[in-house]
Amino acid sequence: MPDYDSLIAAAKKSRENAHAKFSNFKVGAALLSASGKVYGGCNVENATYGLTICAERVAIFKAISEGERRFSAIAVVTDTDALTPPCGACRQLIWEFCGDVPVVMANLHGKTETISMNQLFPKPFDSSNL
Ligand code: THU
Repeated sequence: MPDYDSLIAAAKKSRENAHAKFSNFKVGAALLSASGKVYGGCNVENATYGLTICAERVAIFKAISEGERRFSAIAVVTDTDALTPPCGACRQLIWEFCGDVPVVMANLHGKTETISMNQLFPKPFDSSNL
Protein backbone atom coordinates (compact mmCIF):
# COMPACT_ATOMS: atom_id res chain seq x y z
CA MET A 1 0.00 0.00 0.00
CA PRO A 2 1.41 3.45 -0.89
CA ASP A 3 2.61 5.75 1.83
CA TYR A 4 0.08 8.53 2.28
CA ASP A 5 1.99 10.47 4.95
CA SER A 6 2.55 13.54 2.80
CA LEU A 7 -1.08 13.55 1.65
CA ILE A 8 -2.22 13.39 5.29
CA ALA A 9 0.20 16.21 6.16
CA ALA A 10 -1.31 18.33 3.37
CA ALA A 11 -4.84 17.66 4.64
CA LYS A 12 -3.76 18.62 8.18
CA LYS A 13 -2.36 21.89 6.87
CA SER A 14 -5.56 22.66 4.95
CA ARG A 15 -7.59 21.90 8.05
CA GLU A 16 -5.94 24.86 9.76
CA ASN A 17 -7.80 27.12 7.30
CA ALA A 18 -11.22 25.62 8.07
CA HIS A 19 -13.95 28.23 8.45
CA ALA A 20 -16.08 26.28 10.92
CA LYS A 21 -17.33 28.88 13.37
CA PHE A 22 -20.84 27.37 13.55
CA SER A 23 -20.02 23.70 14.10
CA ASN A 24 -16.47 24.11 15.42
CA PHE A 25 -15.77 20.89 13.50
CA LYS A 26 -12.69 21.55 11.41
CA VAL A 27 -12.00 19.28 8.46
CA GLY A 28 -9.05 19.19 6.08
CA ALA A 29 -8.83 17.31 2.82
CA ALA A 30 -6.08 16.73 0.28
CA LEU A 31 -6.65 15.32 -3.18
CA LEU A 32 -3.79 13.71 -5.09
CA SER A 33 -3.97 14.03 -8.87
CA ALA A 34 -2.59 11.39 -11.20
CA SER A 35 0.10 13.90 -12.19
CA GLY A 36 1.25 14.04 -8.55
CA LYS A 37 -0.12 17.46 -7.63
CA VAL A 38 -1.93 17.87 -4.31
CA TYR A 39 -5.02 20.06 -3.94
CA GLY A 40 -6.00 20.99 -0.40
CA GLY A 41 -9.44 21.85 0.91
CA CYS A 42 -11.14 22.78 4.17
CA ASN A 43 -14.76 23.09 5.17
CA VAL A 44 -16.23 26.56 4.69
CA GLU A 45 -19.37 27.33 6.69
CA ASN A 46 -21.61 30.39 6.51
CA ALA A 47 -24.51 31.90 8.44
CA THR A 48 -27.20 30.10 6.43
CA TYR A 49 -25.61 26.74 7.41
CA GLY A 50 -27.06 25.11 4.29
CA LEU A 51 -24.52 26.69 1.96
CA THR A 52 -21.68 25.05 3.85
CA ILE A 53 -19.23 23.18 1.66
CA CYS A 54 -17.19 20.25 2.90
CA ALA A 55 -13.40 20.06 2.74
CA GLU A 56 -13.50 17.23 0.19
CA ARG A 57 -15.65 19.13 -2.27
CA VAL A 58 -13.47 22.25 -1.96
CA ALA A 59 -10.44 20.14 -2.87
CA ILE A 60 -12.26 18.50 -5.80
CA PHE A 61 -13.55 21.78 -7.21
CA LYS A 62 -10.14 23.40 -6.88
CA ALA A 63 -8.53 20.56 -8.81
CA ILE A 64 -11.22 20.37 -11.49
CA SER A 65 -11.11 24.13 -11.98
CA GLU A 66 -7.34 23.86 -12.55
CA GLY A 67 -7.90 21.33 -15.34
CA GLU A 68 -7.18 18.10 -13.44
CA ARG A 69 -9.29 15.11 -14.45
CA ARG A 70 -7.57 12.02 -13.02
CA PHE A 71 -6.97 11.33 -9.35
CA SER A 72 -5.16 8.73 -7.23
CA ALA A 73 -6.30 9.28 -3.62
CA ILE A 74 -8.01 11.64 -1.20
CA ALA A 75 -7.20 12.22 2.48
CA VAL A 76 -9.57 13.56 5.15
CA VAL A 77 -8.32 14.79 8.52
CA THR A 78 -10.26 15.70 11.67
CA ASP A 79 -9.43 16.06 15.34
CA THR A 80 -11.52 13.09 16.47
CA ASP A 81 -10.80 9.64 17.88
CA ALA A 82 -13.29 8.06 15.50
CA LEU A 83 -12.01 8.84 12.03
CA THR A 84 -14.28 10.88 9.75
CA PRO A 85 -15.52 9.36 6.49
CA PRO A 86 -16.82 11.66 3.73
CA CYS A 87 -20.52 12.61 3.95
CA GLY A 88 -22.99 11.24 1.41
CA ALA A 89 -22.83 14.29 -0.87
CA CYS A 90 -19.04 14.10 -0.95
CA ARG A 91 -19.11 10.35 -1.64
CA GLN A 92 -21.20 11.06 -4.73
CA LEU A 93 -18.74 13.64 -6.03
CA ILE A 94 -15.61 11.68 -5.10
CA TRP A 95 -17.07 8.76 -7.02
CA GLU A 96 -18.01 10.84 -10.07
CA PHE A 97 -14.78 12.83 -10.30
CA CYS A 98 -12.21 10.44 -8.84
CA GLY A 99 -13.68 6.95 -9.26
CA ASP A 100 -12.57 4.05 -7.08
CA VAL A 101 -9.78 5.89 -5.23
CA PRO A 102 -8.49 5.10 -1.74
CA VAL A 103 -9.98 7.38 0.93
CA VAL A 104 -7.36 7.94 3.62
CA MET A 105 -8.90 9.01 6.94
CA ALA A 106 -6.65 10.33 9.68
CA ASN A 107 -6.73 12.25 12.92
CA LEU A 108 -4.20 14.61 14.48
CA HIS A 109 -2.63 11.86 16.60
CA GLY A 110 -1.42 9.44 13.96
CA LYS A 111 -4.48 7.19 13.68
CA THR A 112 -5.25 6.34 10.05
CA GLU A 113 -7.47 4.04 8.05
CA THR A 114 -7.73 3.65 4.29
CA ILE A 115 -10.88 2.42 2.58
CA SER A 116 -11.68 2.28 -1.11
CA MET A 117 -14.55 4.22 -2.64
CA ASN A 118 -16.22 1.04 -3.86
CA GLN A 119 -16.47 -0.08 -0.22
CA LEU A 120 -17.69 3.32 0.98
CA PHE A 121 -20.15 3.82 -1.88
CA PRO A 122 -21.09 0.37 -3.17
CA LYS A 123 -24.08 1.07 -5.43
CA PRO A 124 -23.58 4.52 -6.93
CA PHE A 125 -25.71 6.51 -9.33
CA ASP A 126 -23.49 8.04 -12.00
CA SER A 127 -23.34 8.83 -15.71
CA SER A 128 -23.46 5.10 -16.53
CA ASN A 129 -27.06 5.15 -15.29
CA LEU A 130 -28.16 7.94 -17.63
N1 THU B 1 -17.63 18.16 6.96
C1 THU B 1 -16.62 18.08 6.03
O1 THU B 1 -16.02 19.08 5.65
N2 THU B 1 -16.31 16.85 5.55
C2 THU B 1 -16.82 15.68 6.00
O2 THU B 1 -16.43 14.63 5.54
C3 THU B 1 -17.84 15.68 7.06
C4 THU B 1 -18.39 17.02 7.41
C5 THU B 1 -17.92 19.48 7.53
C6 THU B 1 -19.22 20.11 7.13
C7 THU B 1 -19.47 21.04 8.30
O3 THU B 1 -18.75 22.24 8.11
C8 THU B 1 -18.87 20.32 9.48
O4 THU B 1 -17.97 19.37 8.94
C9 THU B 1 -19.88 19.63 10.39
O5 THU B 1 -20.69 18.79 9.65
